Amino acid sequence: MGIRITPSILNSDVSDLRAQLDLIATADWAHVDVMDNHFVPNLTWGLPVVEALVPITPVPLDIHLMITDPDRWAPAYAEAGAQSVTFHAEAASAPIRLARELRRLGARSAMALKPTTELDASLPVLPELDMLLVMTVDPGFGGQSFIDPMLDKIRRARRAIADRDLDIRIQVDGGINPDTIERAAEAGADTFVAGTAVFRAEDPAGAIARLRELAEAGHARAHRH
Ligand code: DX5
Ligand code: ZN
Repeated sequence: MGIRITPSILNSDVSDLRAQLDLIATADWAHVDVMDNHFVPNLTWGLPVVEALVPITPVPLDIHLMITDPDRWAPAYAEAGAQSVTFHAEAASAPIRLARELRRLGARSAMALKPTTELDASLPVLPELDMLLVMTVDPGFGGQSFIDPMLDKIRRARRAIADRDLDIRIQVDGGINPDTIERAAEAGADTFVAGTAVFRAEDPAGAIARLRELAEAGHARAHRH
């Protein structure tokens, strides 16, 4: 599975999202953080904004739903044309049914785990997922620093996926930058959200290329062990 760089537009210049998406045309997906001021203490945007971005974005959209009751709201993002829809394990009441519904609607299904959520409870959901998001900060804000003990969780997730012969991406989100991305890749992540590391860089395309290079180096190192 190749490396994917999926910049988060959370801390971009939100007064001109079209231009911000054009800045990351060399990325693989654009990561869109939906927050409801309830599941997390922050509020961003929702379905109408995603519907407006689908037809104009140069890269597919990767929706990260930090909302309560994703069972009710997530399918509409798949119907809107998002390539990947991620709901939180802590918020879903029927995660297997929801993951199946997202796939039935033509999206990739993904489930996110907060840093303190144990991996074990999500093992039965794995066969229904295209991606597992291991949060490397507490969700809600950009610009926080990477939580190191999450490396072990990434390793355990990678092992659980391999043991079951599944084909599932592991995405990491929070504090991913040139200092942390290699370690996350070496632990088994292959899909990398980066908000401030891309949008606060002088040259976002250059930042994406650099992150990709470092992730590939970490990935290669993991395969040498
Ligand atoms: C935080 C969001 C992230 C955020 C990451 O809860 O899920 O996607 O934008 O920002 P950085 O890369 O700055 O940690
Ligand atoms: Zn996110």
